[in-house]
Amino acid sequence: MVIAVKKLLFQLDTDSRPASFDTVLAYDGGADHVIGHGGVSADNVGPLVEGVIFTRPPKDKKNTAIFIGGSDLPAGQTLLEAVKQVFFADFRVSVMLDSNGSNTTAAAGVAKIALCTGLKGKTAVVLAGTGPVGQRAAALLAREGAEVTLTSRVFARAERACEAMKERFGVELKPLEAFDNEARGKAIENAQIVFATGAAGVPLLEERHWRNLATLEVLADANATPPLGIEGVKMMDRGERRHGKICWGAIGFGTLKLALHRACIARLFDRNDQILDAEEIYAIAREMA
Ligand SMILES: NC(=O)c1ccc[n+]([C@@H]2O[C@H](COP(=O)([O-])OP(=O)(O)OC[C@H]3O[C@@H](n4cnc5c(N)ncnc54)[C@H](OP(=O)(O)O)[C@@H]3O)[C@@H](O)[C@H]2O)c1
Repeated sequence: MVIAVKKLLFQLDTDSRPASFDTVLAYDGGADHVIGHGGVSADNVGPLVEGVIFTRPPKDKKNTAIFIGGSDLPAGQTLLEAVKQVFFADFRVSVMLDSNGSNTTAAAGVAKIALCTGLKGKTAVVLAGTGPVGQRAAALLAREGAEVTLTSRVFARAERACEAMKERFGVELKPLEAFDNEARGKAIENAQIVFATGAAGVPLLEERHWRNLATLEVLADANATPPLGIEGVKMMDRGERRHGKICWGAIGFGTLKLALHRACIARLFDRNDQILDAEEIYAIAREMA
């Protein structure tokens, strides 16, 4: 009797409970079975990884994969490094990192922006960029050659986020304190690209701050929970022109984000040696966009 080898996805979450969002997308991406573990850290992941790398023969190893999620991006990065440390020779499986949707959301947003305008040499401002999505979006824009400013309400937080992205991606980001809408309006005065990545339901800019800016080409807002991040950009905007600027709303580019997440899960099962982090996920987003 031939037993079909099932595609198993181990969903390792740094939070206490594995996120249901990631579980649903894991099945929709093609996993036959998703095994969720919460509270996973560098200290306790070893036996979980050993269990997946030693159990299947080389030809079947690609049918086991790992997804790393959770709300804490630094914890996710640390966990990814710990998982990689356990691998050796061909005793490995493919891994995807997407803490808080950071990589897929940032990659989808930046890929849509890149469709509308060249990024090299452009001035970009990532508003409230200290969260997982903003940090990765700022890094991806900078890797494409944009000059990126990352704002926070508190300078030290902006600075920490920029340092973390420099350490991880080797990119130079400019930290800027912008405490309120007026300060954020000032921060975008000479920008060509604005990507708002603030917390859900937090307005960051009013329409009057951006509608008359002559240099501004593209605005994107990741916040899908009203009130939205940029007044005047609609949640469903898919490259609509408003006041002469191209606008992307959270659901507008969120369709690509979801498709991208599913596509990445599907690709995990193509081979057993892939690491899908920001750069790889962004490359897939560019293909799909
Ligand atoms: N469209 C999609 O497909 C999709 C997918 C996933 C997530 N999202 C959305 O993407 C956005 C970013 O996600 P995230 O997890 O990176 O966000 P987050 O960590 O929750 O928040 C990002 C930043 O927002 C700032 N912030 C929080 N409260 C604020 C306030 N009252 N006023 C001004 N700034 C405030 C904070 O920066 P400072 O404290 O440094 O100022 C925080 O670091 C969220 O809106 C999320 O819902 C969208």
